[in-house]
Amino acid sequence: MRILFFGDVFGKAGRSILFAHLRSMINEYKTDFVIANAENLADGKGLTERTLKPVFAAGVDAVTSGNHLWDREESLDYISREPRIIKPMNYPAAAPGNSRYILQKEDSKLEIICLTGQIFMPPCNSPFEAFDGFWAARDTSLPLFVDVHAESTSEKRALGWYMDGKAAVMVGTHTHIQTADEEILPGGMAYISDAGMTGAHDSVIGVRKDIILEKLSTSVPHRFESAHSGLMVNAVLVDLDEDRNTALQIQRLRYSVEV
Ligand SMILES: [Fe+2]
Ligand SMILES: [Fe+2]
Repeated sequence: MRILFFGDVFGKAGRSILFAHLRSMINEYKTDFVIANAENLADGKGLTERTLKPVFAAGVDAVTSGNHLWDREESLDYISREPRIIKPMNYPAAAPGNSRYILQKEDSKLEIICLTGQIFMPPCNSPFEAFDGFWAARDTSLPLFVDVHAESTSEKRALGWYMDGKAAVMVGTHTHIQTADEEILPGGMAYISDAGMTGAHDSVIGVRKDIILEKLSTSVPHRFESAHSGLMVNAVLVDLDEDRNTALQIQRLRYSVEV
């Protein structure tokens, strides 16, 4: 089974990359499942039905999320209704959304969850405890894909060791900066600290760089606007051994594109 995962798809720039290139990537890489982190899909702040539906239509099978998932009040109902949007499992149960989703195509099945980190992040419950509770109550033995949405590479690395031997894949997200530490851990789990950002890299993590420079150099708040140039795919390809629920290889994708 081959999985293509896109790190945080940011705003119109990120969406336009998927619209222009996803079909040919699916054909070229012969992927079975496509997953994307969509917490920044709508102008960097959360997602909407209007922005997500075309992304599903373009070939994304399910989306993970993070701290920005609930940024738009008008989307809360859609988030509750659409099971292919996976919310972080370690947020309160009352937060709208589905925390587990099973993808199926022909004979292949893949279970997906998402966790957020606690270091330099908005408050959430322990991702370790949430994973333990999930694992103890699990009623499937399907390959498990986990998006760990967190700022700290040490916390993500620790969660990687924690889940190795259980999950088949752990991809990090949230920093929008891809890390060059992809590997298969000893227990067979594919790991990367951060898959990066699919969007406009002539920016500071997706936002117009002149605005961020002004803000950080003066400490005066400014309204954020999404950047539009320097388009890049940041993603990973993972091959799984479905009989053993382990990963065979993980490959980073990071390249410039035009739309
Ligand atoms: Fe993000
Ligand atoms: Fe985030």
